[in-house]
Amino acid sequence: MTRPFDRSLKIAPSILAGDFADFGAECRAVEGQGADWVHVDVMDGHFVPNITFGPAMCKALRPHVSGVMDVHLMIAPVDPLLDAFLESGADILTAHVEAGPHIHRTLQSIRAGGAKAGLALNPGTPVEAVAPLLEDIDLILVMTVNPGFGGQRFLHTQLEKVRTLRAMIGDRPIHLEVDGGIDARTAPLATAAGADILVAGSAIFHGGSASAPSAYGRQIEAIRASGTAGMPDTSVQASPQGEESSR
Ligand code: DX5
Ligand code: ZN
Repeated sequence: MTRPFDRSLKIAPSILAGDFADFGAECRAVEGQGADWVHVDVMDGHFVPNITFGPAMCKALRPHVSGVMDVHLMIAPVDPLLDAFLESGADILTAHVEAGPHIHRTLQSIRAGGAKAGLALNPGTPVEAVAPLLEDIDLILVMTVNPGFGGQRFLHTQLEKVRTLRAMIGDRPIHLEVDGGIDARTAPLATAAGADILVAGSAIFHGGSASAPSAYGRQIEAIRASGTAGMPDTSVQASPQGEESSR
């Protein structure tokens, strides 16, 4: 089911900070506590210096995510694995512009496979890389840490990039997502700059568990409240749960 695009603030917990032995329960727990999307970090030990999981894990998680499964591919090369990730049932597949010479082809393949296409930028990558791809993407992910690990400090230098990208997006139906170091303190900086999707790992999962998830709910709501307060246009603050759900 595809729902219409909307730019209301959405919180996307990164299960990278959850219990690796119990990801299905972690996905259900964060959704039960108000998460809008579930963010899944795929790492290959090559493009980034850490390994997480692959398409089989994404496929196994799919029945445990009732809303949007937002899969962040930190892998290179990405094209040989795209079919497997498309078959995993991801709603959004985000590839890094730095991960290979044929990002345009990658984005086309993602859309042709029935998923939304995301484009991620490392902190050292300039916004100019996005301009020729604006008609081929549904989401831009600005890394506000160097990819590879959770729990790093938010890079304030990336806020200018978020502002520039928000202006580039204009009225196009493209989400602007920030990922890394997001908590209740940095969320309003990101939303004031134009972000509408906030990924957060450690700030949501710390102090809770799938069997005692109320901390997840409190932490999601703290990020939502401060992120909403930072949003420049108060008329778009309504944040219905779900959106652009499972295909
Ligand atoms: C980092 C990942 C992030 C990470 C965020 O490479 O892409 O999604 O899990 O974790 P925190 O919120 O702890 O910085
Ligand atoms: Zn991520």
